[in-house]
Amino acid sequence: MTPIFTVPVSLAERSYEITIRAGLLEKLGSELKHHAVQRKVAVVTDRRVARHYLKTVSETIKRYGIEPVPIILDPGERSKTLKTVESVLDVLARHRFERSSVLLALGGGVVGDVAGFAASIYQRGMSYIQVPTTLVAQVDSSVGGKTGVDHRLGKNLIGSFFQPRAVLIDPLVLRTLPTREWVAGLAEVIKYGIIADASFFSYLQRYMPDLLSQAPIVVSTVVKRSCEIKAEVVSADERESDRRRILNYGHTIGHALEALGGYQSLVHGEAVGIGLVQEADLACFQGWCSHEVVEGIRRIVKAAGLKDTMPRWTPSKIWKAMLHDKKVSAGRVIGVWPTRIGEVHIASLEKPVFDRWYVASQSA
Ligand SMILES: NC(=O)c1ccc[n+]([C@@H]2O[C@H](COP(=O)([O-])OP(=O)(O)OC[C@H]3O[C@@H](n4cnc5c(N)ncnc54)[C@H](O)[C@@H]3O)[C@@H](O)[C@H]2O)c1
Ligand SMILES: [Zn+2]
Repeated sequence: MTPIFTVPVSLAERSYEITIRAGLLEKLGSELKHHAVQRKVAVVTDRRVARHYLKTVSETIKRYGIEPVPIILDPGERSKTLKTVESVLDVLARHRFERSSVLLALGGGVVGDVAGFAASIYQRGMSYIQVPTTLVAQVDSSVGGKTGVDHRLGKNLIGSFFQPRAVLIDPLVLRTLPTREWVAGLAEVIKYGIIADASFFSYLQRYMPDLLSQAPIVVSTVVKRSCEIKAEVVSADERESDRRRILNYGHTIGHALEALGGYQSLVHGEAVGIGLVQEADLACFQGWCSHEVVEGIRRIVKAAGLKDTMPRWTPSKIWKAMLHDKKVSAGRVIGVWPTRIGEVHIASLEKPVFDRWYVASQSA
């Protein structure tokens, strides 16, 4: 039997727990009762997730005398808009949900971000519970309380910090995830090993085949350790000044590549996978880590089925895209650089260094 894991997220009066349990979805009704949900609950999900899981979820919830009110979004990033938020708010208002009511976010990061944001502004904040169903959502977006939507001028430009009442994770739902989405999520998992935990990195190296075949105990362990690391970082620094920055490792180049590809040719995690390797290489170029560190990261990224090489953009295009990212200050890019596996430091990067590295690395 796979164990039940709980991970505390310590944020003073906004603290909550993450529960990780194989088969949890079928028992969601009892979990909701445990979290004091009464009478009715808004279930925000997307069409694809609804097709797989809404029936199961509705049945278990009803068994506990709670009425589910489904709010079904179109799947995908295009739903991350204020318009979608408004449509969620409409349903909440029409069904006379109150501040004391609870909203469930059942889905990937898109559903979590939209539903969390809607919850944060409905009657100045109603409770919500995250039930993440993608690997990205289970190890990243459901933890930390960042909610929000895209604007036509940029991703995640509109949003709020709003912590859920609980995060309920069933690793078994990952079995229906398309392979591309699953592999993309592994980039974030590998990131946690590099930024914070060398023994977790070794675990991933050792158990990658079992992880790829989704052995339940390995998936649960990996989700749990990832949540612990993210929870530890966000608890230390809820509003992203310094400590939280380390979560951006792989994302400076990653975000740039994602944007240059028009969010089509590379999905987020695929771009981050390349970023993990290339940013380590950049760190090595600056003398901050050894070649072995870079090669270790490259090997695990490839073992996970992710790409490790840069697509053929010119360095000035990549630099410009990096500057467009939010995490810049005064024309310099603030980067996160590994010193060894399990340890990173923050330092700014100047364009001449980037250019020299790019020429050297692409001709190597
Ligand atoms: N708030 C944060 O801190 C944070 C962190 C990382 C990412 N994000 C955001 O998360 C979003 C990406 O999330 P994502 O990668 O989960 O994408 P997603 O929510 O678009 O889900 C990917 C696809 O998988 C489908 N799906 C979800 N669960 C499934 C399941 N169990 N079985 C089958 N199909 C399933 C969805 O319908 C969708 O088509 C981005 O908008 C990103 O900005 C937010
Ligand atoms: Zn990411």
